[in-house]
Amino acid sequence: MGYVITIDGPAASGKSSLSRELSKKLSIPWVSTGAFYRGLAYAALQRKIALTDKVALSELALSPAWRVEMTPEKTQVWYENTDVTEKISQEEVGNYASQVSHYPEVRSSLLDHQRQCAFKVEGLIAEGRDCGTVVFPQAEVKIYLTASSENRAHRRAQEQGQDQKAIEAQQQQRDQQDTTRKTAPLQIPKDALVLDTTNLDFNEVVTKVQQFIKTKL
Ligand code: DC
Repeated sequence: MGYVITIDGPAASGKSSLSRELSKKLSIPWVSTGAFYRGLAYAALQRKIALTDKVALSELALSPAWRVEMTPEKTQVWYENTDVTEKISQEEVGNYASQVSHYPEVRSSLLDHQRQCAFKVEGLIAEGRDCGTVVFPQAEVKIYLTASSENRAHRRAQEQGQDQKAIEAQQQQRDQQDTTRKTAPLQIPKDALVLDTTNLDFNEVVTKVQQFIKTKL
């Protein structure tokens, strides 16, 4: 197993953009752990499994019917050999993902797959909610990214061409669910660099994170 850089933070805080850029600069892969929860929620909806059925959900979490693949641009999700990456990017699926992620049984079923991403690579960037606290508690570098609620909703609304106010309300609900759940809630890992990007441009964020990485690796 190589070194690990974790990036945690609330919805649309820029974790994937930062991961993609660092992945290019460091020549190591990156993974969105949220893609696992989104993929599972999508598969459950396709199979008409209730998002409250934790037993069926944790079985489906281990099913070969769907899988996650790391690519330089994005974390791809395949369902029955169809690429559903675009379909799961909608905020609606994010909300379903947040609901299924609530169950400890589901989380532990997905954990091994997430950890396997760090095997046989020189290094890995893993982003999500509990990467620095639960998935890779021994990670060499931990980052916690945040930004104002308005700023985050603006970013996602522009990406998806949707109404900012509606997105903001959905994200706030999701953040509330993700920070208050009992198992592996979103929290700042110990020793993490906490970066509020509200008033920073992307290059400034990347530079600050690179400087921090240099002090740790
Ligand atoms: O990062 P994202 O928006 O793709 O994540 C979707 C949901 O998945 C998020 O609202 C909660 C869940 N999630 C999680 O519980 N733990 C993670 N490490 C990543 C995501």
